[in-house]
Amino acid sequence: MQLMTPRLMLRRPGMDDLSEFLSCRNHPAVLPWLGPAIDAQRAGELLARQTVLPLEQGSAWHMLAIVGRNDGRMLGEVGFFLSEDRAQADLGWMVHPDQQGQGIATEAGRALLTHLFDRLHLHRVTAACELDNRGSWHLMERLGMRREAMRVQSRRGLRGWVDEVGYALLASEWPGATALQDG
Ligand SMILES: CC(C)(COP(=O)(O)OP(=O)(O)OC[C@H]1O[C@@H](n2cnc3c(N)ncnc32)[C@H](O)[C@@H]1OP(=O)(O)O)[C@@H](O)C(=O)NCCC(=O)NCCS
Repeated sequence: MQLMTPRLMLRRPGMDDLSEFLSCRNHPAVLPWLGPAIDAQRAGELLARQTVLPLEQGSAWHMLAIVGRNDGRMLGEVGFFLSEDRAQADLGWMVHPDQQGQGIATEAGRALLTHLFDRLHLHRVTAACELDNRGSWHLMERLGMRREAMRVQSRRGLRGWVDEVGYALLASEWPGATALQDG
């Protein structure tokens, strides 16, 4: 599966992405939000799982590498946990800190929502992050998601118990934004 946008290609990651994946996932600026660093063996297992995961497998975490179309570099990742009945998904994302602030997550997130609503015909998409993670919930709002929960001390982060915000978007609320450039 490949999703094409003006600047990006979103595709299944593979073992060739291991070092770029690790340099993003374990970057000191990313760790406060995504939890403890993972080692190469664990990261390899995650990527290997993606190479054999059926595209619409329910009860599974699906990863898409965000790759620059001009140079093929992996810039980050978007992912979604597809519910068992394949009607809902919970989103996650990371962009390498050297590449943040250029609209990459926004472009990738719109492409992912288009895929989930317009192609997989999901009913509802959710996302959640720590209240202090302004970059992530700003992104949810830029993607048109609606804040529907503020959960006090509901997540045990690296800094102890932290508040969490939850966002959602229904298919009926999705404006059908950006057309993907692939067929
Ligand atoms: C959250 C995260 C994925 C955002 O990635 P990003 O690529 O920097 O996001 P964007 O560039 O699309 O948006 C970031 C800012 O750049 C601005 N921006 C700059 N150029 C832009 C463009 N061309 N289009 C859209 N926004 C642009 C946005 O307005 C936004 O500003 P804001 O945060 O003040 O609202 C990134 O910060 C990250 O990886 N964080 C660590 C991991 C993480 O927290 N994951 C979520 C855990 S729950």
